[in-house]
Order: sequence, then C-alpha cells, then structure tokens
Amino acid sequence: MTTIAETVRYRAPTRADLPDIQVIDGAAFRDRYPFFVLRQLLEADSSRCVVAVEPGDDEDKLVGYALTIMGDSGRAWLISLAVSPDRRGCGYGRGLLRHSVWVCQQKGDVDEVWLTVDPKNVSAYKLFEDFGFVLREHDERYFGDNEPRDVLVYKLHRIGEKGYPGT
Ligand SMILES: CC(C)(COP(=O)(O)OP(=O)(O)OC[C@H]1O[C@@H](n2cnc3c(N)ncnc32)[C@H](O)[C@@H]1OP(=O)(O)O)[C@@H](O)C(=O)NCCC(=O)NCCS
Repeated sequence: MTTIAETVRYRAPTRADLPDIQVIDGAAFRDRYPFFVLRQLLEADSSRCVVAVEPGDDEDKLVGYALTIMGDSGRAWLISLAVSPDRRGCGYGRGLLRHSVWVCQQKGDVDEVWLTVDPKNVSAYKLFEDFGFVLREHDERYFGDNEPRDVLVYKLHRIGEKGYPGT
C-alpha cells in the first residue's frame, strides 16, 4: 500500500506558495517572517528553496518548506525549515533537508551548508545531527537576549563519493 508520505513531491516554491509557506512558518516559529521578507527572499533566489507537496484530488497541499540562501565562500545557509504541525513525524522534515542539500550539491557552488538551531529544539537538533551536521559554534546571544543558537555545518561530498545526502 502506498502511504501519503511516499507520494509527496519536493519541488521549488512559486509565488503562489507564499501564503501557505507563511501559515506553516507562523505555526512553527514565535518570530515569523513578514510576508514581504518571504516574498523578497523568493524573488532574490528561490533556486535552493524546496517545498513538500502532497497530491490531492482537487488541489495539492503544501505541507512543509525549507529556505536556503547562498552566502559567500561556498557557504549556503538553510535559514528556515518547517513542517505543518499535523504532518510532523511523517519523514517530511528529513525529505526537505535532503532535497535542500541535494539541490546545493547539484549546483556545484556549495562546499558547506550552515544553519542555526536552538539547543533546546530536540526534534530539529536530532534531525540535523542524524543527517550529519556537526556543531561549529555556540552563541549564547545569537539572536539577542535569551536567544542562544548552535551553528551547525554539513560538509558536502562530491557527487558519487557518497550516496544521496544524509544516507
Ligand atoms: C523539526 C521539524 C522540521 C521536523 O520535521 P518532521 O517532518 O516532523 O521530521 P521527520 O518526520 O522527517 O523526522 C526526521 C527525524 O527528525 C527527528 N525528530 C523528528 N521529530 C522528533 C521528535 N518529536 N523528537 C525527537 N526527534 C524527532 C528524528 O531524528 C527523526 O528521525 P526518526 O523518525 O528516524 O527518529 C518539525 O518538527 C518542525 O517543523 N518543527 C518546528 C520548526 C522547527 O523547529 N524547525 C527547525 C528550525 S532550526
């Protein structure tokens, strides 16, 4: 039997996805991105961003997103990753992470993927560590007072050197 998690598609986001991305972002984070920031992020470069979409009879349902932007020195930043609360635990978070890293790998201009995570965010931390991200630094005030973050880094392998990212 095919489960919903097996039929999910991962693709680049379009402008039409922005309202759904904002709803998921708002449900996941206390400080949500304003709409104009999301819009401009996608306008500037959506090529490393990924959404997870479940096929439906009438229309597809967006169930998660990952936003990655290119920094300097071969460093890409995964700046946000979230799955709809009612779809967590289905493997979509790992799928979004894999596709994001895979896209970076395909582009050939990324050596490392960097991200920040709240050290108390157990589910995200475990996802990233199991995937192969390693701690680079801890900053007690990364986003200001009482907002510590760990900076984690994933080194990309040359294609063919290892399997699909995170395996
Ligand atoms: C973090 C998040 C994206 C994970 O998405 P998800 O679809 O539920 O995760 P998956 O089903 O793909 O699980 C993948 C792995 O994540 C870890 N994980 C997920 N949920 C977990 C939980 N409740 N407790 C511990 N580990 C968990 C596990 O390692 C899991 O692998 P396993 O099932 O083999 O044990 C999701 O919980 C979320 O949207 N959280 C709010 C936003 C957020 O914190 N984003 C990260 C910011 S840095």
